[in-house]
Amino acid sequence: MLVNFNEMLKDAKIRKYAVPHFNINNLEWTRYILEKMQELKLPVILGVSEGAAKYMGGFYTARLIVEGLIKDLQITIPVCLHLDHGSSFESCKEAIDAGFSSVMIDASRFDLETNKKITKEVVDYAHSKGVSVEAEVGHVGGTEDNVYGDVFRATLEDCLELAKTGIDAIAPALGSVHGLYKGEPNLDFNRMQEINEALSIPLVLHGGTGIPYNMIAKAISCGISKININTELQVTWSKAVREFLSLNQDIYDPRKIIGSGKRAMQDKIEELTRVFNPQLLVPSNTNLI
Ligand code: 13P
Repeated sequence: MLVNFNEMLKDAKIRKYAVPHFNINNLEWTRYILEKMQELKLPVILGVSEGAAKYMGGFYTARLIVEGLIKDLQITIPVCLHLDHGSSFESCKEAIDAGFSSVMIDASRFDLETNKKITKEVVDYAHSKGVSVEAEVGHVGGTEDNVYGDVFRATLEDCLELAKTGIDAIAPALGSVHGLYKGEPNLDFNRMQEINEALSIPLVLHGGTGIPYNMIAKAISCGISKININTELQVTWSKAVREFLSLNQDIYDPRKIIGSGKRAMQDKIEELTRVFNPQLLVPSNTNLI
């Protein structure tokens, strides 16, 4: 069964670790992530962008892939299936109606009042179905699904305003970017701490790829409870597959080609998860493990 992220993030916020959000695109990646997180006995959030859902066939197919694997592989850890960067109320509703247990509404491209209005609409619908909601304020820069944007840092006042909509987690843009960094990331830890102290809901860090591990640890100490990773798994998987193909020009079985990235990807998942949660802490109130 899929769960929303509330219990996992509540525990992470109290005990100061972060739950990994890994983006998925297909059956194989979903399987690799679920198997590794089951081995580690830790909850996981599987993020599906609108583009990835479209690639898989739609939200319904994405949900069935995840639920099918949970059943066939006897996965017992808490799994949250989360729409990443839902761009509209309609998109969030579609994901919820298809069985997603969590959504992010990203109306951060609009002015604050419009962002609040759309976010509130999503919160009302999602909460009536037991689905958790994340929203973004300010703007995470970089490239995602081939869309580029600049960084606009969130202010404390804007975070307090957006939180009034009843969201369950907030992603304040504080200098991180989607995709690969050019140089060192420049995260505003003071503001992160300030926002964390002023709000009771967990904070989310987008653009987790390429942030040095000491900065990740600092972000967690400043209140980050969920860290989103997409590009890093793409880079890791494609590098391994590229190497495999260059050494094995005569292989054409897609299972062997896709599967050649499995080991590297699972090692990276474990490495990141141990950075986010060095003591491998699990919510004590979960009876699913
Ligand atoms: P990266 O692609 O930089 O890891 O960011 C992922 C993300 O924030 C998804 O929402």
